[in-house]
Amino acid sequence: MKYFIVIGFFISSLLFGKIPDKYAVSKNCAVCHLQKAKDWRTTWHSRSHISKNPLYKKVLDFLSHKHAKFTQQYAVSCGQCHNPRMEIKSVNDNDQSLEYAKLLGIHMKVTDKVNEALENKTVKEGISCIVCHNIKKIKNIKNINDRGYKDIIFGPPNVMVGPFKESNRPVYHKMMQGSHFLHKNVNKICFICHYEYKKNGHFYYKTGMEYKKSKSNKKCVDCHMGKPKVEIVAPNINNKSAVARVTRRHLFKAARNSDILKHSLKISTSVNNGILSLKLINITPHNVPTGFSGRSIVIAVQFKKSKKILKKYIKEITMKYIDQNNNETLSYDADKLVFDNRFKPNETKIFNFSIPSGSNDVVINIYYRLIKKSLVSPLKIKDPIFLKKYPIYYKDINL
Ligand code: HEC
Ligand code: HEC
Ligand code: HEC
Ligand code: HEC
Ligand code: HEC
Repeated sequence: MKYFIVIGFFISSLLFGKIPDKYAVSKNCAVCHLQKAKDWRTTWHSRSHISKNPLYKKVLDFLSHKHAKFTQQYAVSCGQCHNPRMEIKSVNDNDQSLEYAKLLGIHMKVTDKVNEALENKTVKEGISCIVCHNIKKIKNIKNINDRGYKDIIFGPPNVMVGPFKESNRPVYHKMMQGSHFLHKNVNKICFICHYEYKKNGHFYYKTGMEYKKSKSNKKCVDCHMGKPKVEIVAPNINNKSAVARVTRRHLFKAARNSDILKHSLKISTSVNNGILSLKLINITPHNVPTGFSGRSIVIAVQFKKSKKILKKYIKEITMKYIDQNNNETLSYDADKLVFDNRFKPNETKIFNFSIPSGSNDVVINIYYRLIKKSLVSPLKIKDPIFLKKYPIYYKDINL
């Protein structure tokens, strides 16, 4: 017989007021902003919820098994950025009682209230239209841990905040110009979640910090959304008085939905005195790879004689974290950073390989992994999207 008990959970919630159905899901926006909705659906902003992203789910499961917590507890705390419109903000338990219950084999479940908050239809859409376009104000909090919803003041749900001033034409929703949507400030929106975050001495992510150091004058949206284009903002409704304005695609381009990786590094090769030299320059204004600590770039070099492989080299560009038991892990529960050899902005790396005698052909294959090979089995990853090699560069040279 299984015992279910619900123990000392302390739930804290923040009520924003319910989002009316009209604005709750992106499907409703698609009626008038079809291209935006289609673009957004290809991005993983639309899948940042536990029910939509298998890698996220596996990482939450991995952490909860290791630390004797419920997956939902992590889903709520990590939801600070992944699901910033979740009503419940934290679920604390008495760690000891959980440990005892585990030892005694008692099954427990989190309250229905937590599940309800996680299953909400707006929350399930992740970083959706009503996350970014309902931000009335960014607080610009200096505290490194107050990112995601903690850095935002949401406005009334019927007011869409964007780059334009209120138009006179009646629309489905009200409009408001947000200074954070003006091109000169637009990075601030991305910084809400991508700037940095540090816990227990380790950075979860720091793409914004890396970018600041690069002193680039390109904005995140210049590379990740699409080129500016002058057109009607809501082309799917018949509105004769509509004026054309500067707009942008909503692709949030990345490895999975674009060829952006091919523009990340400038790569060249040369052969001299029995040495193959491979030169890579980071032309991206943040680290490559950046962000999530499981990413890696693999450089595979194969020297051949006719079809036969004479020698193989593999180099991995990544970061490696270990936990207290010296097992490899992610930044979220790291004890120590063992190394970080990722490309810094503008960094050049040169790799020299001596050509084995008799070799008449070399194949260079450089690719990207969303999750590095050494973590696939600890995390029990099976989904092909996360096992795939995303191409960066391929060259076959006759020596
Ligand atoms: C019935 C049509 C319609 C629907 C549905 C609709 N919009 Fe709009 N939206 C418009 C029109 C019209 C404009 C104004 C265009 C203009 O002034 O050039 C607009 C403007 C905007 C702007 C620009 C605001 C600004 O001040 O810069 C944003 C952002 C926006 N909509 C987001 C959304 C979101 C998010 C949804 C879904 C919750 C949505 N819209 C649903 C018609 C619609
Ligand atoms: C509310 C938090 C939040 C904001 C604001 C935000 N992001 Fe993200 N972003 C995320 C999260 C979380 C992910 C990972 C989602 C996943 O893979 O499940 C992500 C993923 C991405 C990715 C990879 C997407 C993919 O398809 O693999 C890119 C690129 C990106 N963001 C760019 C941006 C840019 C540019 C901005 C500013 C216009 C921005 N983000 C604003 C939280 C945010
Ligand atoms: C000059 C173009 C450029 C600018 C500006 C830029 N990026 Fe990138 N970004 C890239 C390229 C190229 C990649 C692919 C290589 C990599 O993963 O590092 C990338 C990758 C990413 C990823 C990882 C995507 C994935 O597949 O997981 C995120 C997240 C991201 N950028 C966020 C940002 C944010 C936030 C900003 C602004 C602070 C920004 N980028 C500015 C070009 C740019
Ligand atoms: C991660 C944040 C983010 C998300 C999610 C997002 N947008 Fe935007 N949106 C932006 C930014 C940033 C701009 C301004 C781009 C620029 O600099 O031109 C913008 C501009 C707009 C505009 C006005 C200008 C234009 O390009 O047409 C509309 C309308 C709009 N978005 C609708 C939507 C809809 C509909 C969705 C959901 C399907 C959505 N957005 C999701 C960040 C976001
Ligand atoms: C400060 C905001 C923030 C917090 C807090 C946060 N994340 Fe993230 N997460 C992001 C952003 C931004 C990305 C996208 C970075 C990238 O693509 O490299 C991301 C990406 C990820 C990814 C990769 C998803 C994919 O589709 O490739 C996983 C897994 C993940 N986060 C797990 C977690 C876990 C587990 C926690 C809590 C322990 C957490 N995150 C807390 C912002 C956050």
